[in-house]
Amino acid sequence: MSQVAEASNAPHPDIHAHRLLIVDFGGQYTQLIARRVRECGVYSEIHPWDLSDDDVRAFAPSGVILSGGPESVNLDDPPKVSQAIFELGVPVLGICYGMQSMAAELGGKVEASQHREFGYAEITPGDSGLFGGFSDADSGKPKLKVWMSHGDRVEDVPPGFTVSASSPNSPIAAMEDAERQFYGVQFHPEVTHTLHGDAIMRRFVREICGCPGDWTAGNIVADAIEQVRAQVGDGQVLLGLSGGVDSSVVAALLHEAIGDQLTCVFVDHGLLRHNEGDQVMETFAEHMHINVIRVNAADRFFDALAGESDPEKKRKIIGANFIEVFDEEAHKLEGIEWLAQGTIYPDVIESAGSKTGKAHVIKSHHNVGGLPEDMRMSLVEPLRELFKDEVRKIGLELGLPYEMVYRHPFPGPGLGVRVLGEVRPEHVEKLQLADDIFIDELHKHDLYNKVSQAFAVFLPVRSVGVMGDGRRYEYVIALRAVETIDFMTARWARLPYEFLEHVSLRIINEVDGISRVTYYISGKPPATIEWE
Ligand code: XMP
Repeated sequence: MSQVAEASNAPHPDIHAHRLLIVDFGGQYTQLIARRVRECGVYSEIHPWDLSDDDVRAFAPSGVILSGGPESVNLDDPPKVSQAIFELGVPVLGICYGMQSMAAELGGKVEASQHREFGYAEITPGDSGLFGGFSDADSGKPKLKVWMSHGDRVEDVPPGFTVSASSPNSPIAAMEDAERQFYGVQFHPEVTHTLHGDAIMRRFVREICGCPGDWTAGNIVADAIEQVRAQVGDGQVLLGLSGGVDSSVVAALLHEAIGDQLTCVFVDHGLLRHNEGDQVMETFAEHMHINVIRVNAADRFFDALAGESDPEKKRKIIGANFIEVFDEEAHKLEGIEWLAQGTIYPDVIESAGSKTGKAHVIKSHHNVGGLPEDMRMSLVEPLRELFKDEVRKIGLELGLPYEMVYRHPFPGPGLGVRVLGEVRPEHVEKLQLADDIFIDELHKHDLYNKVSQAFAVFLPVRSVGVMGDGRRYEYVIALRAVETIDFMTARWARLPYEFLEHVSLRIINEVDGISRVTYYISGKPPATIEWE
């Protein structure tokens, strides 16, 4: 038995016993608040602001955080939380709109500010249980640089509250009622721009709410193993393994929990990165002794893609074939009762927040695999509670290689959308080699972890080059590297010129049929990260 499995048999604390309720008013940083709480070692869940009184009480939080939001409390019918939250007898922290809403509900006054504040502001903290004692180390003054983003502001604090910080633009930048342990901050402690933001969050979560901080990678793994064992008993489980972070962590976790009861199907569509298929097999089948069926389906995918150059049609072909191949393999297996999926917490929040309600949505992502329609299988989703950064941490805890766990994202259709136009095997091969050189050099120059995503793209246009005495008329490779937090917007990475020159030379010298390398410098927007 491995160390991890042994650890899971040892008693561990109930890591859900202390939990924070994050009430979502639709703010852009709500997920970040929940992640910051978890970084303090405490479990948190996000729920919409109209959560019922019964649900609030049933959740039994050790503390509540009210998020920011785009509305104004002076609307006719503003979003506001149930009074039950203020009657639980636990600490409450309102952030931005959350503070304004708390002020309005408890008898204070909120008005539209003459000066909207977006960006840095300097506050002077008073005697506060939340951030008293923190100061700007550079200036030595008891001031804090904070991140503001608001139009309205609190004009009068509710009865029982005192003003705990002010700024030139917000005379009431923070308020608190020390007795009831209600706190409001106009600024955003959850963003890194706020000086001591993490310490403020920690003080609230650990000291004021009194949570012990046992939400750690080791405990999460032990708890997840226990839950999977209880859920599936001695049933057989099937997992579509893609080599991506989520399905890899599910594979490692299920293997620890149920060993040979797990069978993985790895569909190699021939559009993976250089040697990626072999690496997946080496990690899971050879090193970890996990039951993995590799389906080499490259020919089938290339045949299906022949003659097609429309990006969306290519995506559909790849997706549909992926599910077909996966289904065919699944039907060959007998006695499978469970299908495992790498659903993570942001997927759960998204589907719960959608108009279709809180239905259990099966991820149709083709790199995860679909549920064969005529196979009655129940779902096991051991990562449902976790954010991506937590999935990575438990991946390391489970012994997966760092490079696999911290790999840049890779799209489900793989190189199918990085060979522009028609996908031909010979073009995919050139792209694999060029991409491998780029990624290898990024690692060697310690740049890989400084960019969020980097890859090469094959352009099916030929251009003239000279090599030695000969003229060449060959293809173009474009390099792409971006910096981004959420992949919704991105900035092109300012890679050093010498580095780009070195990569360009290696690609032209080592990859047959490439005579030109370009670096792509459009941001998102207006461009996207991928080319198709
Ligand atoms: P774009 O190109 O839309 O990419 O700026 C944003 C992020 O999404 C990834 N991406 C995909 N992932 N299937 C996927 O699983 C897809 O069809 C797909 N298209 C783009 C892209 O790599 C980037 O991380």
